[in-house]
Amino acid sequence: MSEGMKWWQKTNVCEIYIRSFNDSDGDGIGDLNGITEKLDYLKELGIGAIWLTPCYKSPQADNGYDIADYYEIDETFGTMEDMDHLIAEAGKRGIRIVMDLVFNHTSDQNSWFLESASGKDNPKSDWYIWRDARPDGSEPTNWRNIFGGSAWTWSETRGQYYLHTFLSEQPDLNWENPEVREALYNVANFWLDKGVGGFRMDAVTYIKKPALTDGEPDGRDGRAAIHKMTANTEGILDFLHEFKDRVQRGRDIFTVGEANGVRASELSQWVGDEGVFDMVFEFSHMLIDLNNEIDWSSRRNWSLADLKRILGDSQRNTAENGWYPIFFENHDQPRCIDHYFPWVSDSENGSEESMAAKVIGTLMFTLRGTPFVYHHFLIHEGRTEEEALEAVRHFSRDSARTPMQWTAEENAGFTTGEPWLPVNDNYRTCNADS
Ligand code: NOJ
Repeated sequence: MSEGMKWWQKTNVCEIYIRSFNDSDGDGIGDLNGITEKLDYLKELGIGAIWLTPCYKSPQADNGYDIADYYEIDETFGTMEDMDHLIAEAGKRGIRIVMDLVFNHTSDQNSWFLESASGKDNPKSDWYIWRDARPDGSEPTNWRNIFGGSAWTWSETRGQYYLHTFLSEQPDLNWENPEVREALYNVANFWLDKGVGGFRMDAVTYIKKPALTDGEPDGRDGRAAIHKMTANTEGILDFLHEFKDRVQRGRDIFTVGEANGVRASELSQWVGDEGVFDMVFEFSHMLIDLNNEIDWSSRRNWSLADLKRILGDSQRNTAENGWYPIFFENHDQPRCIDHYFPWVSDSENGSEESMAAKVIGTLMFTLRGTPFVYHHFLIHEGRTEEEALEAVRHFSRDSARTPMQWTAEENAGFTTGEPWLPVNDNYRTCNADS
């Protein structure tokens, strides 16, 4: 191991989708104490950091990616004391907790947004992206949000539209406003002062909005995908350098950006000493079966040679310009066996799936980069015969969010209550114990 390497280049990270990992209080939903209970298990696996999906106070319109208060833990997941306990207990085992910073948007229930929406004249009136309707009352631009439908929602109280890259319950913050940036840096520093080991920066390529003008329609709805209009636009790096200066400087943490829209050729501006983060997630191997990155229902055939070329390119890139997380699934993606080995998914006794999982595991732990294991790795989803459900089955994010399978006991040992999402029926044979 080279001496100049940082701790996060020499460890394994485990992404924990908190709702589905381990339920300590029997309400069917995973929680912070549930994670603390499993720290020894994680240590045994060689995990040095946990990327924890959002556990802040939230109405859960997007399972926590809609934050109502960055300084509070959602009661579904526990309390701030539970969080402090988790950070401390993890620390004792050499495991660092990495928080998910959702800074492109908040919840529409965040007090910042409620104030901003209360009228045009208030101290936070410019904290979100507000625009008048067009003369005919329609939305200011033809943009489609990432989940589908207009990217603008009308606010009766304010008498204007607000912009949202994701759900209407997730209004986008206005990063042009220095007060907003200051508030966000304060949030990040609050968590660092608690001792967290870094941040995963959610949807971070969308924070800088270019001129708000119509785009070329790219779908039957006559709208233009917001991704094409706002991802990684001119000036974004100025914001992110400021973030690095104000948050990371002098701290031994790592940052990893969810960087949809960053091209391989730009990597050196995004990661490393000259860049803004330590790593960015690179999605080309995840998009291998899509015709284009804005339409999840349009799939294409691909070959092993394509996958090899994509991984080869990204490996060469990191060798020269930086460092990548190595990952084959996460809470937004299909299970990796279904995704990369669709032809073995039906096998009766699971032996072919195990083989496929070993292949992916071997890749994961031998490629250059930091392995980011998702806790569903090695557990895959069954198939449905109904053709109409095919696309949903393949791309539904729920498939990646079913409860963790710990044992062959009832509900796979995830909860003593009713699990929030059904446990995969293969749990009696396919579980962490066995
Ligand atoms: C990316 C997250 O991974 C996803 O789960 C979420 O829906 C969006 N960002 C919006 O925050």
